Amino acid sequence: MDTSDQWIRERTGIRERRYVKPGEGTSELGAEASRRALEAAKLGPEDIDHIILATLSPDFTFPGSAVIVQDMLGARNVGALDVRNQCSGFLYGLGIADAFIRTGQYRHILLVGAEVHSTGLDLTTRGRDVAVLFGDGAGAVVLGPAEDGRGIRSVHTHSQGKYVKKLWLEAPSSRCHPRITEEMIREGRHLAEMEGRAVFKHAVVRFPQVIREALTANEVDLDDVDLLILHQANLRIVEAVASSLGVPLERFFNNIERVGNTTAASIPIALDEAVREDRVRAGDRLVMAAFGSGFTWASALVEW
Ligand SMILES: CC(C)(COP(=O)(O)OP(=O)(O)OC[C@H]1O[C@@H](n2cnc3c(N)ncnc32)[C@H](O)[C@@H]1OP(=O)(O)O)[C@@H](O)C(=O)NCCC(=O)NCCS
Repeated sequence: MDTSDQWIRERTGIRERRYVKPGEGTSELGAEASRRALEAAKLGPEDIDHIILATLSPDFTFPGSAVIVQDMLGARNVGALDVRNQCSGFLYGLGIADAFIRTGQYRHILLVGAEVHSTGLDLTTRGRDVAVLFGDGAGAVVLGPAEDGRGIRSVHTHSQGKYVKKLWLEAPSSRCHPRITEEMIREGRHLAEMEGRAVFKHAVVRFPQVIREALTANEVDLDDVDLLILHQANLRIVEAVASSLGVPLERFFNNIERVGNTTAASIPIALDEAVREDRVRAGDRLVMAAFGSGFTWASALVEW
């Protein structure tokens, strides 16, 4: 493809991204992240009462990838739900898990964000605006009831479906019979299509809005937030959000430089790294936020 490291770094902050090995799918990455999350939580697969997996790149059109992860982990035959909300998928999943745990329906929920983008990228000049952004990856958390008043304070989710075509993958489509044709492939309709500037423009408005929504709902001042983890779409977006909120960039955790945009996996990967690097400590107040295809956007405020 006709591009340069400099072009990509200046516009996105991305230097590296990870791709799966041939034959590896979203569920393999999700299962591996889940094993590490279970280990960190000192729990086994038998302790999991429900599985939620967020992805826009399931192994198959159906069934979803959560059931495959259930099998790979050797978990009990518990419910396994796929969430289809792209970059906001992990936070949408967090909202569902939080509600389930609050009602007492489930005690331990495994929440996974996993993506394989590499097999769907056009690595020629035609696809360069999209291809340079995305990488493969997975992250996972195990959620359970908090006994000391800490935990998830609130989750906020939004959508605006009129912008479906600003960032989408059209085919295969249940509107077409057959769902994909050679002509559609020739036209590149099986590849993600993005109006980068429109996405950027909306993202830098929605991120601050939804972050403020979480703060207002919890009567928390931005100064009292220890760390912000934004979906890693583009470092320039994070910088714009930081400046719009008036928060120094150092209070945001960023790893896009090494992993690129991993969609639903982006927040849990960043969260895992932040915890392992001691950037999140017991008692810290954490805000997470996402924006992406749909459009969808979301935030969560957590007392760690
Ligand atoms: C994709 C993005 C980096 C493009 O940056 P931009 O400054 O808007 O660039 P444009 O799309 O206007 O393209 C400018 C030029 O660079 C070219 N270009 C696009 N991708 C390129 C690449 N990888 N390498 C080199 N040139 C590229 C374009 O073809 C265009 O050329 P032209 O002026 O000759 O037509 C930017 O729009 C963006 O980050 N948007 C948000 C995307 C995002 O976060 N998506 C995921 C949301 S979850």
